[in-house]
Amino acid sequence: MAETATDLAIAQTASAGEPLRVIAVASGKGGVGKTNLAANVAVALARQGLRVCVVDADLGLANLDVVFGLAPRMSLLHVIRGERRLAEVIVEGPAGVRIVPAASGVEELTALGAADRIRLLDEVDGLDVGLDVLLIDTAAGISGNVLYFTAAAAEALVVITPEPTSLTDAYGLIKVLATRYGRREFLVAVNMAAGAADAETAFGRLARVTERFLGVRLEYEGYVPLDDALPRAVRAQTPVVLAAPSAPASLALVQLARRLGGRPGTGPNGGLQFFFRRLLEEGRG
Ligand SMILES: Nc1ncnc2c1ncn2[C@@H]1O[C@H](COP(=O)(O)OP(=O)(O)OP(=O)(O)O)[C@@H](O)[C@H]1O
Ligand SMILES: [Mg+2]
Repeated sequence: MAETATDLAIAQTASAGEPLRVIAVASGKGGVGKTNLAANVAVALARQGLRVCVVDADLGLANLDVVFGLAPRMSLLHVIRGERRLAEVIVEGPAGVRIVPAASGVEELTALGAADRIRLLDEVDGLDVGLDVLLIDTAAGISGNVLYFTAAAAEALVVITPEPTSLTDAYGLIKVLATRYGRREFLVAVNMAAGAADAETAFGRLARVTERFLGVRLEYEGYVPLDDALPRAVRAQTPVVLAAPSAPASLALVQLARRLGGRPGTGPNGGLQFFFRRLLEEGRG
């Protein structure tokens, strides 16, 4: 699609009061680039005119703040405990991207009583008004936390690399989400690819097995090349799309954001309330 047409679609999405998109970024294998992808796509979407928030749901080593060069002092845990309002723990990153540091708190989420659940949903309701896209940066693997957040999100973006281990781990994640949670559609981005052909080959491999053995459809969202500018940007604690805008990885990330942002949302299944409701209900089961 032409860039201008996509941009127009994004602008219309932003202005037409479309429901919020909730997209979980997950992978199976660790270190494939989820956090960097989430952070950079967030910044790129924000610069394309969307209001974006990223939740750091990697409860082990929360490193979204590192990529953004932030040092938040409060997290979702304070909100769950009723010590702070959601608006108070959200920190603002580059390009106006809002970040919800999670650090910990999922165990607390699952143990909330009815009154606290309602209080949290009220908090979330207020946030919903000012957002177009919510990205959830999850941890690696298929631990309870990852499944918990990914199952609750309306859309799942699975990040893979061309490495065979990344493909088998992604397959494992997709399998659990498909068989246990009934998810039938996944978005896929290939990171650290040598080029377009390399990325498409990796995607094709995964798509064939998920289709054949799980009856699951994968949608290719694009790829990000292996690029030294990325680790350099991490060291500088600035998202690469800002630190090195003309680097190949940055151009690809902006492209990926355009495609993601231009996709139609999932309608009534989107939305922040819906996401948190599912999250809270999931915790009970
Ligand atoms: N396209 C790329 N080219 C080169 N290096 C990259 C690329 N993408 C990510 N990296 C590097 O890979 C490392 C891991 O990236 P990142 O932390 O985003 O992965 P992750 O999937 O979030 O990891 P975890 O599973 O631990 O949460 C980072 O140090 C980053 O610099
Ligand atoms: Mg990460």
